[in-house]
Amino acid sequence: MGQIVREVLDPPMLEQIQPEGKALLDIGCGEGYFARVLKAAGAARVVGADISPDLIGRALAKDPEGEYQVSDIASGPPCGVGTFDAVSACMVLMDLPDLDVAYRNIAASLAPHGQLVACMINPYYAFPVGEWRWGLSDGLHREFDPHHRTLKRFVRQIQGVLRGDFEWILYITNYRERRVVEKMLGNAATLHFHKPFSEYVNLAAKNGLVLQSLLEPEISPAIYERYAHEPLARALTTVPLFFVLVFSKVAQV
Ligand SMILES: C[S@@+](CC[C@H](N)C(=O)[O-])C[C@H]1O[C@@H](n2cnc3c(N)ncnc32)[C@H](O)[C@@H]1O
Repeated sequence: MGQIVREVLDPPMLEQIQPEGKALLDIGCGEGYFARVLKAAGAARVVGADISPDLIGRALAKDPEGEYQVSDIASGPPCGVGTFDAVSACMVLMDLPDLDVAYRNIAASLAPHGQLVACMINPYYAFPVGEWRWGLSDGLHREFDPHHRTLKRFVRQIQGVLRGDFEWILYITNYRERRVVEKMLGNAATLHFHKPFSEYVNLAAKNGLVLQSLLEPEISPAIYERYAHEPLARALTTVPLFFVLVFSKVAQV
């Protein structure tokens, strides 16, 4: 995850988890970045779990005292049942082919009334549904006008080109179409399972995890100033590209 994304998402994640003195499980921990953040914020115990032995090896190299383990969240609760006050999942839920099973194992990992705090890309606006392209800023993409004549449109486009009037425009492709797409994570290709947002909420409820809050973190002016040259920073001023979801365990599963 890029530094800009960390700076936008870490504060709301920590604010929701309130790590101090808690036993925490970070699933899909990768190289252990967020597990280390949780430890630094005063957690009593942090376990990082990831399906990739290579990434767990890197996490242990960076934090030899840390508790990290190779485990697939689809195969069971990583550290026994009812163990954790909260489970965090940073940019992981979209990468799981069977969210139903993953939620079941997350719920089983949690103590009664424990929380799942997850950040994920906004499936309405971000990859693979939303794509930003550098395009002509003729205003036509902003409003649908069925009476707009082709010639008038063409003339406005020529005028726009002559003025050099371009901007980043968000194009949305079919949100409803489920798709499995490959994306690059560092040097490794990984799969992303696009599904409707309702599934993230409803499958959680089915497994005893009820949505308490949905946050749409913004980029602050201070962060924006440092990353203004990055298209992602500009995009974040326009739409929420990320969600932070907070679920509470309401029943034994
Ligand atoms: C986009 S990365 C995010 C890594 C990390 N949370 C971070 O913030 O940098 C998704 C992670 O989920 C892990 N992952 C994918 N499927 C998994 C599974 N079934 N069980 C556990 N981890 C999984 C991947 O190996 C990868 O490290």
